[in-house]
Amino acid sequence: MVLISGGTSLSGMVKNRETFSGVMPNVVCMRHTFDEEQLFTRGQPEAGYELADDLQRFCETYGGSTIAAVFVEPIAGSTGVLVPPKGYLERLRQICDEHGILLVFDEVITGFGRTGAAFAAQAFGVTPDLMTLAKALTNGAQPMGAVAVQDKIYKTITEAAPENAIEFAHGYTFSGHPAACAAAIVTQDLFKKEASFSKAAELSDYFLDGLFDLKNLNSVRDIRGYGLLGAVEVKAKGGVGVRGAKAQIALFNEGMHAKFTGDSGIIAPAFVSEKRHIDEMMDKLRSMLEKI
Ligand SMILES: Cc1ncc(COP(=O)(O)O)c(C=O)c1O
Repeated sequence: MVLISGGTSLSGMVKNRETFSGVMPNVVCMRHTFDEEQLFTRGQPEAGYELADDLQRFCETYGGSTIAAVFVEPIAGSTGVLVPPKGYLERLRQICDEHGILLVFDEVITGFGRTGAAFAAQAFGVTPDLMTLAKALTNGAQPMGAVAVQDKIYKTITEAAPENAIEFAHGYTFSGHPAACAAAIVTQDLFKKEASFSKAAELSDYFLDGLFDLKNLNSVRDIRGYGLLGAVEVKAKGGVGVRGAKAQIALFNEGMHAKFTGDSGIIAPAFVSEKRHIDEMMDKLRSMLEKI
């Protein structure tokens, strides 16, 4: 329950909060970065960087020194692929530096090549203090999570431990499981050997061209995307998420699976995809969007 409440507390997903009541105290959420003005923006929207000033207002309200850390997904994934407005992450970094707040990038989705760079931190040129990692760490073949930290944080933790004691004692049954570690090592080797991240970068334009070609279909409300990650949002019908759920099933019946969150389908091709696979995905998406 602690783990569930931690994630639910930090994320801005209202349905999760309504279902799981045990959220942690002393967590406040900034606004998401979506705005109608940004509809059909490819890449980073021009408008909206000032939303980062929500953090500045929290500093003024609660006192910057009382805020330990700020968690953001560099591209918000499960809320429907919200690409950060230009300057947004830079402004967050600046406010964090001014107030001694740790900046944490949740790179569970964006990490390991999805943006065309190894990490979104590099794609957007903003360096966090910590990064949470999972999914592509093992290509999803084995469950594994990791936290990458700056040297100064690593040293703070390890140097605070009593001599000969375990530096960061915790006791999950499956910590450092050999099968997961083996999967991670092989996955990372393959990423390197197959140049997966640069392949993702090379395929990005073709992928986004295909996705944005769907923009004139009647059922489409918005299209967003960056790197090899995109979203097609259908116009809501019968309440938020109802049409999205139908779209997911209809797409499955076309022979393609994509996760829908609310009314947005998250499209994230595998890095081994070739142009013909992208074409096939777009054909299936188009066919589904014409029917629903
Ligand atoms: C961005 C992001 N962060 C965190 C999580 C949760 O990760 P885990 O299942 O490793 O706790 C998810 C799960 O989908 C996610 O998409």
